[in-house]
Order: sequence, then structure tokens, then C-alpha cells
Amino acid sequence: MSKIIASCKDIIKTFNSGEAEVKALQGITLDVYGNELLMLVGPSGCGKTTFVSVLSGLLSFDSGVCKLMGENISAMNDDELTTFRGKNIGFVFQAFNLLPSLSAIENVALPLTVASRKRAEALALASEMLEAVGLSGKEDVKPSGLSGGEQQKVAIARALVHNPKFIICDEPTSSLDHKSGQIVMELLTKIIQEKGASMIVVTHDNRIYKYANRIVHMEDGKITKVAL
Ligand SMILES: Nc1ncnc2c1ncn2[C@@H]1O[C@H](COP(=O)(O)OP(=O)(O)OP(=O)(O)O)[C@@H](O)[C@H]1O
Ligand SMILES: [Mg+2]
Repeated sequence: MSKIIASCKDIIKTFNSGEAEVKALQGITLDVYGNELLMLVGPSGCGKTTFVSVLSGLLSFDSGVCKLMGENISAMNDDELTTFRGKNIGFVFQAFNLLPSLSAIENVALPLTVASRKRAEALALASEMLEAVGLSGKEDVKPSGLSGGEQQKVAIARALVHNPKFIICDEPTSSLDHKSGQIVMELLTKIIQEKGASMIVVTHDNRIYKYANRIVHMEDGKITKVAL
């Protein structure tokens, strides 16, 4: 069995918004292996985004243990976690989270400039990544001038530009037509193979199931099935 990249045990997460308490994660246990593409599926509201947010160190949790690359993320302080995430994790948000005042290429270069890479070098790598997702020629366009699908591709390019070992994509093909969705999945699959990265893809799109090594089904904050 190949090595474990991420390991979650008995993760519990409760949201308290006003009077209502939402038990978003009710004891999640899962290992993610090196070089695998794992898909996370389940009905709206079952906890998928909450789970991948915990898995990437973006969201704290009530109890349980989450280790990434063997390190217990609960033991890291905010600065350590930010540095760790910047080095090891790429995240494609469900809502894209592009910065509106930056052009496409500046958005993609952001993780590199945050990691103190020289601006020219960062822009060159960002340009290559934009080309890889099929957005050559859109480098200088701001998000408001891009279609939803194009914004999604910028978000994907940004998540991959710093060569992270663990890539998390929350609905990466939701705004893409069938053909663009397949192109993006081919690209993600190629990256896993070439760079030896692992990936979790949250999706509702059963047309991309064929790219998965394993499919994890969630319902009501729990894993109900893991299919090969
Ligand atoms: N910040 C928050 N505050 C309060 N409740 C939240 C918060 N984030 C999520 N929830 C609740 O937690 C549950 C799980 O939400 P989550 O976003 O993880 O679902 P999801 O599976 O990603 O759904 P979708 O497929 O619609 O994206 C839902 O009941 C949601 O309303
Ligand atoms: Mg979600």
C-alpha cells in the first residue's frame, strides 16, 4: 500500500449559528494515499465542504485527529499552519475566491508571490499554468470579465501553480461544460501522475467518476460507503 498523505480519525465538527446547532461532521475517519484521486460525493448539506476544509487546515474542528504528511495540524499555530498550507496544499474553492482587483495571471501567481518567489518568475509559471488550463490570451483579464467556467479554470490554475503534494478541489467542474470538464479532469489526472500528488475532488458530476481511484460517499456528516 502506498504511503498515507492525509489521515483523519473520528473528526467531529459542530456549527453554532444563532440558536441552531448543526452537526456537520459526525465522526469521520479516512486515509488518503499517495498518488490517488479520491472523489467525495453526497447530497447537498451532507458536510463535504466542511470535511475538505478541515482536511486542508482551513477549518478547526471539535474533536478527532487530522494528520497531513504525518503532521498533526491541531498542534500547529496559525503561522505554522499558513506556511504548511502554502507549501503543501492547493485548494480550489467551491466559490472560486478569486481576487477581483487582480488579473487572471496575477491571481494564479498569488501563491508564488506569497511564498516570496520573484515576480517575473511567478508570472512566468502562472502563464504556463494558464496555458495548461486553456486560458492563453486571458492573462490580463480580471475575474469580472471572465465567464464562470473561465473563473473556475483560473482557480484551478492557482491551486496547482506551486506544485502542492495535496490538492483539494471543491466542485471543480460545476461551472464547466462537458468538454471543458473532461479537459480539466485530464489535466488533474496528469498532474497526479507526473508530480506524484494526491487529490480529493468533491463533485456532483457523475460524468467525471471515471477519473476516480476511490469514491467516498457521505450522508449526514458521516461516510456511508467507500467504493473502488
Ligand atoms: N459556517 C457555517 N455556519 C453554520 N452552519 C454551517 C456553516 N458551514 C456549513 N454549515 C452547515 O453544515 C452542513 C454541511 O455544510 P457543507 O457546506 O459542508 O455541505 P456540502 O456537502 O458541501 O453541501 P453542497 O453540496 O451544497 O456544497 C450544512 O447543514 C450547512 O448548513
Ligand atoms: Mg459544498
